[in-house]
Amino acid sequence: MANNKESFGSKFGIIAAAAGSAIGLGNIYRFPCEAGANGGGAFFIVYLAIVLLMGLPLMVSEFVIGRRSGKNPVGAFKTLAPEQKGWSGIGYMGVVCAFLILAFYCTVAGWTIDAVGKSIINYYHGLDNATIQKDFDSLMNETWQPILSEGIFIFLTALIIVKGVTKGIEKYSKILMPILLGILIILGIKSLTLPGAKAGIEFFLKPDFSKITGTVLINALGQAFFSLSLGMGCLITYGSYIAKKDNLTSTAFMVCISDTLIAILAGIVIFPAAFSFGIKPEAGDSLAFVTLPMLFNQMAGGYFFCLIFFLLLTIAALTSSISLLEVAVLFITEELKIDRKKATIYSAIGAFLLCIIASQSLHDGTPLKIFGFRIFDALDEFTSTILMTVGGLLTVVFLGWKMKKSDFMEEYTNGGTVSMGLRKIMYFIIRYLSPVAITVILITQFIK
Ligand code: PHE
Repeated sequence: MANNKESFGSKFGIIAAAAGSAIGLGNIYRFPCEAGANGGGAFFIVYLAIVLLMGLPLMVSEFVIGRRSGKNPVGAFKTLAPEQKGWSGIGYMGVVCAFLILAFYCTVAGWTIDAVGKSIINYYHGLDNATIQKDFDSLMNETWQPILSEGIFIFLTALIIVKGVTKGIEKYSKILMPILLGILIILGIKSLTLPGAKAGIEFFLKPDFSKITGTVLINALGQAFFSLSLGMGCLITYGSYIAKKDNLTSTAFMVCISDTLIAILAGIVIFPAAFSFGIKPEAGDSLAFVTLPMLFNQMAGGYFFCLIFFLLLTIAALTSSISLLEVAVLFITEELKIDRKKATIYSAIGAFLLCIIASQSLHDGTPLKIFGFRIFDALDEFTSTILMTVGGLLTVVFLGWKMKKSDFMEEYTNGGTVSMGLRKIMYFIIRYLSPVAITVILITQFIK
């Protein structure tokens, strides 16, 4: 199928873009929250297995679908299954999911921007964790400050997309993300040497198989898909920009490895420090936003590290939010034939309005609840444990059962030009193992 739109300039371009999408708040904020709430080591081991056995093959599937069709997620399924339009429902689900994720993602990105502001004025210096916690709680209860920082974040996201400088930002993130990695390593070393750190690292890494329940499984699956940007069309969208000569397996492999490495490092930084400062592993949002400032307070050069860290985290979040907004923008331009600039403005405004609702639902005693969950939490849970997992399931079913095997093989091996020892195993996993495993996990969550 003709792919006559722009493609990523180099192999590194696509790896940088897809890794940029994957690495973000999901690794540093959400992963510790989920690991902490789901028993630490038990969660960790399940998470790793899921990334390898389900994340990687799903990523390959999305790249194949995107590159083969050269289209946005809705157009992709329409192109690949022209006689059965129902499959494009997967694409529509993805577009909706992108908006819902943006709503709570930008809320958290707003806190990150707030932390950048506080780092600049050296606000955290000398504060104890009760004070930082109180401050964080009051930020959640504010009205205008979160709206302002979310607004700034969404504006930046839209600006980068309108200006078409996504490639520019990828170029910078190639340099900046390794710096983030370097800082995480330094923080990890500091955290591990704090008094009481050992209990934290044991909590995070020591697997206790008896703690693996249906809830742990579904949360690990949801977190893996969220962190790897899977199951909602994002990597189909990026796949449509991949050049025909790029090797899809090695690209997917690099993205999975770098994303997982950053998540593991985040755990190694946060849990020992949290245990040392007396912050509970189930503390959720505070794990990152209270523990980290405390850790910087204990370090030589803390001012500098704190500022650089939160700045880089904002940039990591931006390369993810760009990929989320791009799902909507490419859909609107290709399917609704609206120009790119207008498409970006409309979708950014839509995301901003949803985000205001999500962030205001964090006020104490809020009426903004659905089924007893604050809207912020409901969006987070619903997207990762339902929309993305079901989206991922349908995607592998499409590839394994609907698409012709020969078409898959041709796209996957770049027309037979790269020899892929893995291709049979990959196809087996996509056709049989992944659909069964995801279905089982989706069902076990209902079994207590
Ligand atoms: N993977 C991103 C992160 O970890 C979030 C994201 C999810 C981005 C889905 C795109 C699609 O921060």
